[in-house]
Amino acid sequence: MTKTFAVLLTICLMLFSVSIAEGSDIDYLVLVNKLNPLPDGWEDTLETVHVTNSVGDDVEVEAKAFTAYEKLKADLETNDGIFLELDSARRSVAAQQKIMDNFIEKYGADYAAKTVATPGYSEHHTGLALDLYFKLRGEDGGFTDVYYNEDMVQYPEIWEKIHMKLANYGFILRYLKDKEYITGYGYEPWHIRYVGDVDTAKQIMSQPGMTLEVWLGAVKDSNPTIDYGNSDLYTLEELEEAAVQVKCQFASFTGCQLHTLRYAGDAYNTPEELASLNHGNKGEPYTQVAKFLSDFDAPEEGSEVWEPGEKIKDYEWWLARTANGGWQLVTWGYC
Ligand code: DAL
Ligand code: ZN
Repeated sequence: MTKTFAVLLTICLMLFSVSIAEGSDIDYLVLVNKLNPLPDGWEDTLETVHVTNSVGDDVEVEAKAFTAYEKLKADLETNDGIFLELDSARRSVAAQQKIMDNFIEKYGADYAAKTVATPGYSEHHTGLALDLYFKLRGEDGGFTDVYYNEDMVQYPEIWEKIHMKLANYGFILRYLKDKEYITGYGYEPWHIRYVGDVDTAKQIMSQPGMTLEVWLGAVKDSNPTIDYGNSDLYTLEELEEAAVQVKCQFASFTGCQLHTLRYAGDAYNTPEELASLNHGNKGEPYTQVAKFLSDFDAPEEGSEVWEPGEKIKDYEWWLARTANGGWQLVTWGYC
């Protein structure tokens, strides 16, 4: 090899490596959620960068997502006086397990399941999900970190400004208010997701209530009419929590359209029904029952379960809870 050729080769290799660092050969629209784990071999083509945040943690982010994040951060700093920081981005399965263990210890298993993904099923494994926090500038010019979830939710006006700019840089807000039945998680103003380009992000973010699941066609957002009736046993909030479980499960009824969901009434909270639901329950015994009924349409084609366009009436959903736990959907169908 001549010296000139070797120099040219080195320059080419340098240029090549720079271009790779600008992004990964991955599917930027990958869906990772409670039903879809991180695809096998994801790491093989993933390019990441590392950055240290204001509390000294090392944060690893997919390369193109990081470039986009830096632009978002600069825009917010210059134009809105908001100082973004990255709490966490890419997480290994082991790191996710540690978070899950901490949450279970601190807040209990129910809250942990609503807030932290099962290791292997977290969007954070992709490197495309970023958890933000921000710094507030005091009158003396010094900064204070607003870092913990319970503190961050006290600043809806700041999140609104951040969310308005996400799509301009290829990000979407991933866990929307009132969409837990689709995404599987409650509202997380800090969790943003890079989707690869600005056009796609704008298409998703311009439709109020649009989730990645629905935009990708993985589930239909049925948004049913819900009749909670009158209950002497449960508050409206408790029945709403139960309905979320039903809607979550219904989201896996491919192509079906849920029209109505109604609480069947307190009469089903009987010792007989409890005994039946407790049959085969190896955990803590259930102490209360809630039954819902639903009407929905089957898809016109492609279903192996339903007749094309079938109209399903009074389909049953049975939920139960233990003395200290939240609702669990125990069984459903014509029971
Ligand atoms: N907080 C999100 C759901 C996660 O743990 O991936
Ligand atoms: Zn997150």
